[in-house]
Amino acid sequence: MVVDASGVKASLGILISGRGSNMAALIEASRAADCPYEVILVASNNPDAPGLDFARAAGIATFAHSHKGLTREAHDAIIDAALREAGVRYVALAGYMRILSSGFIAGWADHILNIHPSLLPKYKGLDTHARALAAGDPEAGCSVHLVTPELDDGEVIAQARIPILPGDSAADLAARILPEEHRLYPEALAAYIRAHG
Ligand code: GRF
Repeated sequence: MVVDASGVKASLGILISGRGSNMAALIEASRAADCPYEVILVASNNPDAPGLDFARAAGIATFAHSHKGLTREAHDAIIDAALREAGVRYVALAGYMRILSSGFIAGWADHILNIHPSLLPKYKGLDTHARALAAGDPEAGCSVHLVTPELDDGEVIAQARIPILPGDSAADLAARILPEEHRLYPEALAAYIRAHG
């Protein structure tokens, strides 16, 4: 079964800053006939983001505009205009290394999601794996959540967990959690879009 009653997939825009492996997982998943979203734009604040090359090679429109020299609001307005011009309905943040202005987020309320490499509400922000290790946590993981103006604070809609093993480094955790991210994000986003239209 497909998507909505008319068989139309929801248009998804993905924001990236770097390698874009989560973006690639979302693109890959979107090709399934029963996936409720279609990736129509990949946008970045980093014109050199390697993920942009992957998106282009996959035949997806890309947009890049550096944030350098711009206020946060001015840059967000440029990204917002690109998303709206393309006809985006949902936005997926996938390694977008910019804090978004509250005005931007308000404009996409309930239509913008993020993947974060921790078991939220633990370890908002950066260096999540090192912080989980330093705390002596027995497990780590990743969370898909709605984006609200407060950093990494919106409702968590899905999580994946892995055990922390003796001798694990932050790099070990990152390497074991990343495949979980690639599985979780497409699945959680599809479920969210199916439920919300
Ligand atoms: C991922 O670990 C994601 O959870 C975090 O930033 C990283 C992005 O990696 N938000 P990639 O660009 O998707 O490969």
